[in-house]
Amino acid sequence: MRLSLLCLLPLALAAPAAIVGRAVKPVYWLLAGDSTTATDGGWGDAFLSTTIAKGSSGHNWAKGGASTKSFRDGGYWKSVMNDIKKYKDTYRVYVTIQFGHNDQKTTSGVSLAQYTTNLGTMANEVATAGGIPILVTPLTRRTFKDGKVNENLSNETAKTLEVAKKQSQHFIDLNKASTTYVNAIGSAAADKYNYASGDRTHVNPWGGVVFARIVSDLLVASYPEEFKEVTVANATLSATIKAGKAA
Ligand SMILES: *[C@@H]1O[C@H](CO)[C@@H](O)[C@H](O)[C@H]1NC(C)=O
Ligand SMILES: *[C@@H]1O[C@H](CO)[C@@H](O)[C@H](O)[C@H]1NC(C)=O
Ligand SMILES: *[C@@H]1O[C@H](CO)[C@@H](O)[C@H](O)[C@H]1NC(C)=O
Repeated sequence: MRLSLLCLLPLALAAPAAIVGRAVKPVYWLLAGDSTTATDGGWGDAFLSTTIAKGSSGHNWAKGGASTKSFRDGGYWKSVMNDIKKYKDTYRVYVTIQFGHNDQKTTSGVSLAQYTTNLGTMANEVATAGGIPILVTPLTRRTFKDGKVNENLSNETAKTLEVAKKQSQHFIDLNKASTTYVNAIGSAAADKYNYASGDRTHVNPWGGVVFARIVSDLLVASYPEEFKEVTVANATLSATIKAGKAA
């Protein structure tokens, strides 16, 4: 009896340390992207305010009008990098990278090949700095053509996925999920998310909540061990979206 208790002692002492070691660090979210992620018109702020659990935090660095090139030229990427350094000891730092809406414009000075290279460079720089990049395919526009969403970000989507797969990095296919949802609810219902009348690119505050939920659900579904514990679920909203009903 006495002997067996003594034998158990080292194990018992070791247990608390092991549990502490395994505890999941909270996440610091850094959002990089264009206006479809940015404050006032994108999903980013709603993501930070409605989907992340207590203890986690983040900053929405996305900028209206930004391409993969102008985001760096304008110094915003530097700010993301600085934040990785600042928060990586206390948090697991994840950086979402979602571009394409402006890169695709003929005036952007960014070819599809450069867009691809720029995304890959950004993702690798995040990893080198001690963060974890998440490549996000561009949020769909809600413009319909012949009864279906006009999928005019398909090249950018394909390239974003190509980079993530080639570099073995995290990704979510937001373009596919948002296109599926918008097709399911139809043009009239989708217009309820318009930032302003006729603006089918940017989202109003409720549109932000809905698309942020899609982002969050994709993250949890793809990487449950990393994100489930640090996410606040909204079962009602997720079920409505999944059923293809207008939220
Ligand atoms: C994509 O859609 C936007 C907004 O409707 C439009 O300005 C742009 O010309 C389209 N681009 C392509 C490649 O179809
Ligand atoms: C995708 O790229 C191809 C090849 O450059 C081009 O012909 C096509 O118009 C592009 N599609 C869209 C939707 O931008
Ligand atoms: C959760 O979903 C419900 C129903 O769709 C919605 O009314 C509510 O605003 C959502 N709450 C958050 C925090 O997203």
